[in-house]
Amino acid sequence: MDDEKIMDAEEQAGDEFETNIRPQSLREYVGQEEITSNLKVFIEASKIRNESLDHVLLYGPPGLGKTTLAHIIANELGVNIKTASGPSIEKSGDLAAILSTLEPGDVLFIDEIHRMPKFIEEILYPAMEDFEMDLVLNSDGKSRNIKIDLPPFTLVGATTRAGDISAPLRDRFGIVSKLQYYSEEELCKIVNRTSRVLNMPIEMDAARLIAKRCRKTPRIANRLFKRVRDFALVEGYEKITLELADNSLKRLKVDEYGLDSVDLEYLTSLITKFNGGPVGVETIATSIGEEVSTIEDVVEPFLLQEGFIKRTPRGRMACEKAYDHLKIDHMGSLF
Ligand SMILES: Nc1ncnc2c1ncn2[C@@H]1O[C@H](COP(=O)(O)OP(=O)(O)OP(=O)(O)O)[C@@H](O)[C@H]1O
Ligand SMILES: [Mg+2]
Repeated sequence: MDDEKIMDAEEQAGDEFETNIRPQSLREYVGQEEITSNLKVFIEASKIRNESLDHVLLYGPPGLGKTTLAHIIANELGVNIKTASGPSIEKSGDLAAILSTLEPGDVLFIDEIHRMPKFIEEILYPAMEDFEMDLVLNSDGKSRNIKIDLPPFTLVGATTRAGDISAPLRDRFGIVSKLQYYSEEELCKIVNRTSRVLNMPIEMDAARLIAKRCRKTPRIANRLFKRVRDFALVEGYEKITLELADNSLKRLKVDEYGLDSVDLEYLTSLITKFNGGPVGVETIATSIGEEVSTIEDVVEPFLLQEGFIKRTPRGRMACEKAYDHLKIDHMGSLF
């Protein structure tokens, strides 16, 4: 099988930059307190019993820390992590090859687990439940079934779409956690941590500004921080001030709610081309030239959470907040 399909933690880490700003332990992981405090207990209990941790499913919008948490779980358990992604497991042999590398207690991390083919899911069921795998071997025109014993392991699955995971697969995860958007205070902590790791000081109110404008998402907070840091470097600032951060974010076209150009195109299209809806997601996606999956996984969850749009049985509708924000009245003209 293809080597790319399975990577261990060191290879995955790759970019050292990112490894540093990615927290390595539960103590460093900011926010998601309900999830982390429970995980702490489950991890400790599994260590006391000397058993593998129950399987964990992490779901939620991109950039909220699912991959980070998967690595932390392995670190806290003191075991190795093997990673694969749903779409890369195409044949039963791919899955068998991954499973055969596992040592007792290891974490197997499958990212985008909702994109795994259904027949692979079925092979996974006995592996998850009884740590065994049924394989069909074909040789000399004959096929025979063999059963392979696996070491106990922990499957950590991550997905942006819990709804796309079949019920039997979901039911086999003992721990199911939904990651939430972060609060401004938590994002401030993350920005300050990144500022220390990257050795570029930031004033408190500048950190707060980035925290306000990052779509409540740590990955975006870190990305904005890095871009503002570029402006600081080129313009000769030794630390990031509020004024510098504000100007840089304007130049990056991030608005005061943290909406980016795709968010704004979405809202503008919904209001001006479709009269505020209701309209189907496919229609909006086509009108702004984006994939439906991007709209559903990345754009809409935040717009829904912030009350810019709502979902109705007949399609998406713009809320008052969207009209106000774009300064468009209900006749579709600017005020
Ligand atoms: N709780 C946290 N505390 C500090 N930093 C975090 C936290 N969560 C995420 N980050 C930062 O945000 C970045 C993105 O997180 P991560 O890659 O884990 O997201 P993800 O949920 O796996 O996203 P995707 O769905 O796109 O795979 C990380 O590199 C890390 O630096
Ligand atoms: Mg990820």
